[in-house]
Amino acid sequence: MTRRKGIILAGGSGTRLYPITQGVSKQLLPVYDKPMIYYPLTALMLAGLREIAVITTPQDRDQFQRTLGDGSQWGLDLTYIEQPSPDGLAQAYLLAEDFLDGAASAMVLGDNIFFGHGLPDLLAEAGAQDTGGTVFGYHVADPERYGVVDFDLAGNARAIIEKPEVPPSSYAVTGLYFLDGTAPDRARKVQPSPRGELEITSLLESYLLDGTLTVKRMGRGYAWLDTGTHGSLLDAGNFVRTLTERQGQQVGSPDEVAFQMGWLSAEQLTERARRFSKNSYGAYLLALAEGRT
Ligand code: TTP
Repeated sequence: MTRRKGIILAGGSGTRLYPITQGVSKQLLPVYDKPMIYYPLTALMLAGLREIAVITTPQDRDQFQRTLGDGSQWGLDLTYIEQPSPDGLAQAYLLAEDFLDGAASAMVLGDNIFFGHGLPDLLAEAGAQDTGGTVFGYHVADPERYGVVDFDLAGNARAIIEKPEVPPSSYAVTGLYFLDGTAPDRARKVQPSPRGELEITSLLESYLLDGTLTVKRMGRGYAWLDTGTHGSLLDAGNFVRTLTERQGQQVGSPDEVAFQMGWLSAEQLTERARRFSKNSYGAYLLALAEGRT
């Protein structure tokens, strides 16, 4: 069994953030002190994934490569894949088919932020399942904006409905999908929706029909933020700032996570800290490397 691989979906058009995203990809915008993509990237790293494909638009690819490099600075192996046009989330599995080469995957949306005590355990549990899929349901105030889970009386998911007018529950499906190696095959069978996209909900439905989709509830102790609108982008920045300043700990630092995972040595982290010697991020990494936190 090949190791599970990661996918970050960072294409899209970001029209809700116009005019900002006319010139720059949404997933490169700052969320307080880091590029947005650092947050979903660290979620995959916390799940233990080191081989990760970053899917971008053709025009934004260079900027992502400049921002993230080949990943070796974090003990990762990053691959870049272009999505010629934003034809939907499920298309990622077709674009990444060669990269996956039959492996199971965890895909995260490049504009989603996850935070919470116990997150690595939750992710590890999902990652340990070799067949079928796992997605997370999160209680939100405005489920009609998302794919919403319809639970049966026993609490099992029986359907996921994209942007329902009357939501069957308050649980939205977050942008983090653990799927087995059959995802590309299943994605090929997905028909475009009326808005012309290969919908992730249609792909998940294929697993649901087979009875192999687990919807885990991500409880209220977790934060799941998306950053697709001006207000939610600012809210996410403020959230990260509040935590960072109160705790004196970083949120979404790939350097820190790589070090915690044992993928970077103290010497390598010190080397990384030197790059940022003019700001508090560098000082933080140095303190970590020297065991002073
Ligand atoms: P969305 O927020 O649904 O779409 P978008 O980013 O294009 O923004 P807008 O609605 O404002 O036009 O996308 C969710 C995430 O998935 C986001 O990180 C972009 C990414 N995405 C792709 O990479 N390819 C796609 O085809 C789509 C639809 C989204």
